[in-house]
Amino acid sequence: MTALLEIQQVVKSFGGVRAVDGAAFEVAAGSITALIGPNGAGKSTLFNCVAGSLRPDAGRIVFAGRRIDRLPTHRIARAGLVRTFQSARALARMTVLDNLLLASIGHPGERLSGLLLRPRAARAHERALRERARELLDLVGLQAHADAYAGTLSGGQRKLLDLARVLMLEPTLVLLDEPMAGVSPRLRVELLDHILALRRERGITFLIIEHDLDFVMQAAEKIVVMNEGRVIAQGDPASVQGDQAVVDAYLGTAAVHEQPAPA
Ligand SMILES: Nc1ncnc2c1ncn2[C@@H]1O[C@H](COP(=O)(O)OP(=O)(O)O)[C@@H](O)[C@H]1O
Ligand SMILES: [Mg+2]
Repeated sequence: MTALLEIQQVVKSFGGVRAVDGAAFEVAAGSITALIGPNGAGKSTLFNCVAGSLRPDAGRIVFAGRRIDRLPTHRIARAGLVRTFQSARALARMTVLDNLLLASIGHPGERLSGLLLRPRAARAHERALRERARELLDLVGLQAHADAYAGTLSGGQRKLLDLARVLMLEPTLVLLDEPMAGVSPRLRVELLDHILALRRERGITFLIIEHDLDFVMQAAEKIVVMNEGRVIAQGDPASVQGDQAVVDAYLGTAAVHEQPAPA
């Protein structure tokens, strides 16, 4: 399996706190990989390093064979790596459709200066973007809300909008930070279906931070476990569930005793 993303001994400190402390793992192309671990383990900080909103103090991050840990967020997004945030970031006073159109501004397809000089091309381009936005709203089941203000959506619907928003950039790797948090059980099932379909039909690779272990065990073929800034275990769901270091650090919590015992 080819690695689409390689995280190599990444370190990121805040003052005296080593939030990420030499984390290393790979994400295979076409996979769904879950990143789990207790609160404060360094998962979101690592995401920020990968997506370019934080610069690691040490280590390397390689995406599609190219080092990205010195690149700004927009260049990383342009290369095909995008992320959502732990709390959804839709602009409440803008319509759902406009939130999607806004997401594509500054993207390579845009070439704004050229379009300004060629109004017909600009109109055709905008039509194409609108079509793409509508398609994505269909895909995540928000088509009926296209003209509603994003602020009127439920928490779960905003997560779906967030997913559609990053898909506007036609990514090859999507990082999702706790996509299931605050999402109703019904929408959770839908969101999982969308993620599986995107991987299957468009070959999109996912790296997902998630506390909902039912979701993780169902969706991911590889699980990476972080604790105190380090990767303490990785592998398929069954092997990670049976790993003593994981049980000690993380899986010892009540939520997980409901999980079936590893075979
Ligand atoms: N911007 C920041 N400034 C200072 N400390 C931070 C910052 N972001 C995260 N931390 C600290 O880094 C550690 C890891 O946090 P985080 O990456 O959010 O963990 P997780 O997402 O696994 O819960 C925590 O101790 C947290 O308090
Ligand atoms: Mg976090």
